Amino acid sequence: MAMIGLGQGAAGTLPAMAAMPEIELVAGADLNPAMRQGFAAHFPDARVYSSVADVCADPAVEAVWIATPNRFHAEHAIEAMRAGKHVIVEKPMAITMEEADRMVAASRANGVTLLAGHTRSLSIWNRAMRRIALSGQIGGLRAIHIAAHTDWMIRPRTPDELDPNQGGGIVFRQGPHQIDTLRLLGGGMLRSVRGMTGKWLDARPIPGYFTAYLEFEDGTPATIMHNGYGYFAMSSLYPWVRDKREYTHADRAALRRDLESGRRDESKEKEEFRVGGTRDPVAAASRAAAEPYPWKPFDLGPVEVACERGMILPSQWGLTVYGDDGPREVDLRHLQRPEPDPSGGLSIAILEELHGAVVGGKRAYHTAEWGRATLEAVLAVMQSAAERREITLKHQVEMPADYDLDMCIDAC
Ligand SMILES: NC(=O)c1ccc[n+]([C@@H]2O[C@H](COP(=O)([O-])OP(=O)(O)OC[C@H]3O[C@@H](n4cnc5c(N)ncnc54)[C@H](O)[C@@H]3O)[C@@H](O)[C@H]2O)c1
Repeated sequence: MAMIGLGQGAAGTLPAMAAMPEIELVAGADLNPAMRQGFAAHFPDARVYSSVADVCADPAVEAVWIATPNRFHAEHAIEAMRAGKHVIVEKPMAITMEEADRMVAASRANGVTLLAGHTRSLSIWNRAMRRIALSGQIGGLRAIHIAAHTDWMIRPRTPDELDPNQGGGIVFRQGPHQIDTLRLLGGGMLRSVRGMTGKWLDARPIPGYFTAYLEFEDGTPATIMHNGYGYFAMSSLYPWVRDKREYTHADRAALRRDLESGRRDESKEKEEFRVGGTRDPVAAASRAAAEPYPWKPFDLGPVEVACERGMILPSQWGLTVYGDDGPREVDLRHLQRPEPDPSGGLSIAILEELHGAVVGGKRAYHTAEWGRATLEAVLAVMQSAAERREITLKHQVEMPADYDLDMCIDAC
């Protein structure tokens, strides 16, 4: 596989790609020589390219992971698919439905797999929640709620991340995680969306808050919310969460002040997190001991599933299932693989899915059609906010019932 775009997102994925025995990392590409240099230093056996065309011309590359800025996802994915490469594309899959339609068509026309990747729905916590809800042990699924409080808005940002027309803003960047998760849990078929967004910081001309009420075809309700202004972090409610990448209260206050006074050098700050930067997790991950990682809200927030006769919530090492007989702990540590993965297992999960589909002849689930359906709901949140009305969806697809059928949750 090759990684295209060696920025902050790629830095979170490369450790898993390099460590998984079923994947060989053969190349990396970026326009920027600093990232190319960083990649070459981490992976001296891999080739380094400066364009998507060069990656596409490399016959050893069977599949690519596209981690370029959002506005390039469609163009780069289609170029790779035309060259016969399988693709995992970062979220959001694209920034318009027209782009997503062309990606679906390119995947079909070229007979390659495109996976809409790295959505937080792939965590073992969410997938196990889905299996428990589907099992009916605490009755049928009745409602889903997800709420995130993060400092997304005060992290360093490039100009394109501050422009909604180029896929910038928190709805484009974080909406896919929450919407993909609730679609996975609720079966995929959303009927409608009523959303609202908030732009509350003059120094950031993009939405940093969103909320939405989404309803499935069968009437099941779901709500999402993300407040990225960084006054409160959801992680502070969980005593075991120590996210070294997260800013402290003092950091956030200083960053907010610098942002408002125009003193921040955001391009320099952002570079620290990219491949080869001083805060790039690649080198640290390769040295990390293989030990289980606890649940963290990350940027998704805790997912709350209400069933007819109980509730399911994440806990440190798995899930707490609240039923008629009280709470029961479900430990999920046996589902974690030993390879380092700063994304909390998400990169491994989507790479496993791609490998299974391409090499193992297994079914792909997070397909181009699935990704397009998530994008449709993300765009509907913004349209609904602008027009102050409910938006009906037309491109939804189901998550097949056999997804994760072999997941062994209890007593393995
Ligand atoms: N899933 C996650 O946890 C996660 C985290 C961060 C970013 N992301 C996603 O990753 C993508 C990139 O975001 P980022 O924060 O890493 O941005 P970034 O700016 O740090 O990285 C983008 C990289 O792409 C390179 N690039 C731009 N145009 C290119 C081209 N034509 N050919 C080759 N390289 C090119 C840039 O030089 C840069 O190094 C976005 O889609 C974002 O949503 C995902």
